[in-house]
Amino acid sequence: MTDVPFAPTTAFRIADLAARQDEAVRIAEKRAVDRQHAKGKLTARERIDLLLDPGSFVELDQFARHRCVEFGMDANRPYGDGVVTGHGTVDGRQICVFSQDFTVFGGSMGEVFGEKVLKVMDLAMTLGCPVVGINDSGGARIQEGVVSLAYYAELGRRNALASGVIPQLSLIMGPCAGGAVYSPAITDFTVMVDETAHMFVTGPDVVHAVSGERVTARQLGGAEVNSEVSGNAHHRAADERDAIDWVQTVLGYLPSNNLDAAPEYADETASELTTADLELDRLVPDSLNQAYDMAEVILRLVDDGDFTEVHSAFARNMICAFGRVRGRTIGVVANQPLHQAGVIDIDASEKAARFVRFCDAFTIPILTLADVPGYLPGADQERHGIIRRGAKLIYAYAEATVPKVTVVIRKAYGGGYAVMGSKHLGADVNLAWPTAEIAVMGAEGAVRVLHRRELAAMPPEQRSVEQRRLTEAYRKRHSNPYLAAERGYVDQVIAPSQTRLRVASALRALRTKRQTLPAKKHGNIPL
Ligand code: HXC
Repeated sequence: MTDVPFAPTTAFRIADLAARQDEAVRIAEKRAVDRQHAKGKLTARERIDLLLDPGSFVELDQFARHRCVEFGMDANRPYGDGVVTGHGTVDGRQICVFSQDFTVFGGSMGEVFGEKVLKVMDLAMTLGCPVVGINDSGGARIQEGVVSLAYYAELGRRNALASGVIPQLSLIMGPCAGGAVYSPAITDFTVMVDETAHMFVTGPDVVHAVSGERVTARQLGGAEVNSEVSGNAHHRAADERDAIDWVQTVLGYLPSNNLDAAPEYADETASELTTADLELDRLVPDSLNQAYDMAEVILRLVDDGDFTEVHSAFARNMICAFGRVRGRTIGVVANQPLHQAGVIDIDASEKAARFVRFCDAFTIPILTLADVPGYLPGADQERHGIIRRGAKLIYAYAEATVPKVTVVIRKAYGGGYAVMGSKHLGADVNLAWPTAEIAVMGAEGAVRVLHRRELAAMPPEQRSVEQRRLTEAYRKRHSNPYLAAERGYVDQVIAPSQTRLRVASALRALRTKRQTLPAKKHGNIPL
């Protein structure tokens, strides 16, 4: 520590404080810069500086130091104990933050480190503001043993209690291994940086020791695998700046807590039909088997054509995104015909269900765009639990009390119709394009099931003619939105070009919606 000769004076005490601050920040930061930059990583403080508005950071517990005496630890008691915590603003709005410092005991969680993180999380709950955790850590501090484990459990408890009360976001900027992964997993959104970030429950060495399997850290838990395959990461960032930029963008859509409204911007959208609106009338191809990009629909419905996808690389058959309609945040859930024809598989169901529940918790209206051939058939999906895991999306929609507006664009077959924001699951306004096909299944499939015996009995040339005739007849009768409209399952069939204005007016009307669920401790979503 920098020595200031002791004197019982005010001047001494101020100089002593400055010396301690110098040690806690400037000297520690110099060492951190050397170590972190060499690995292509920013320091814990540099990350906070990038995240927060300039000059807004207020640090807490700068002089906290560990109390461990095991393994000669009492000879090394750096200020801060490996984590920088505090609060500040992003775009003028309050958030709390903790940033793990890998250059101090590998950013590992010990008792004092844990106390600091819990304290800033408790502060976020008291203030009712989001908390952002920046992870770069070797996990439980080995020297502190069970105490470190206790703090991981305490952290998990805080994450669970804060869930649905304040938004929680995790940035993974380095290693995040062992039980340490479970805190980010409970948070609402997790971002991983390419190359430098890893998340796994057991590392490559343990995997090899247990199963003999040889796998690299990147293959096991790199940003690519976690954003595309496991879905643990909601965004794969090219670098740390990109990761922070994504978090700032997402925060901009969100309310500070479950009692506040999301930030609202001035409505500068056109109140009459635009060229972009009219383009929707030509978007759906005449052939059912031809795909189109659902993003083209979304960008024509949201303000400035601007939306931010979460989980953009995972379950690409389902799009989940934040956007704004007339200056107010909405969540969009949409099938993507470009990927697997927009079918709902296990990953798509879980992705959308979690997003719907997030929107519901934070009073963000949900716009659903349906073009879905149904749930994905197959032994693999059945064995992995598409019944139980597909049910999550039904549960999430049914439980959501926020305004729900649905537009059926093209196919809405079978379970896909029912689950994608149908009236029967509690949607408030259901619209359909004239291209909508709301039916138990497509015409070919229906004819094969209904007329199997009689078709099988026909000679082949007659069979194909008859099959075509029956398919045409089925398509004419059932493959449209009007049988659903007859029953009020669809409130209105509209020209595609009318959608933006109609969705905006529905959301405006629904601003006063208030719905309460039956009193209960909590439901039991099939996990
Ligand atoms: C104490 C640790 C540490 C830890 C790293 N360090 N991890 N100190 N406890 N868990 C220290 C190292 O001793 C080293 O100190 C410095 O941090 C940098 O570490 P290196 O190994 O040199 O860095 P690197 O080569 O980049 O490797 C990073 C690493 C590796 C892959 C994370 O350090 C590692 O495997 N650490 C142990 C990971 C682990 O098994 N943790 C426990 C997980 S179980 P010096 O002084 O040399 O600079 C867990 C349970 C949670 O977390 C339960 C929750 C319910």
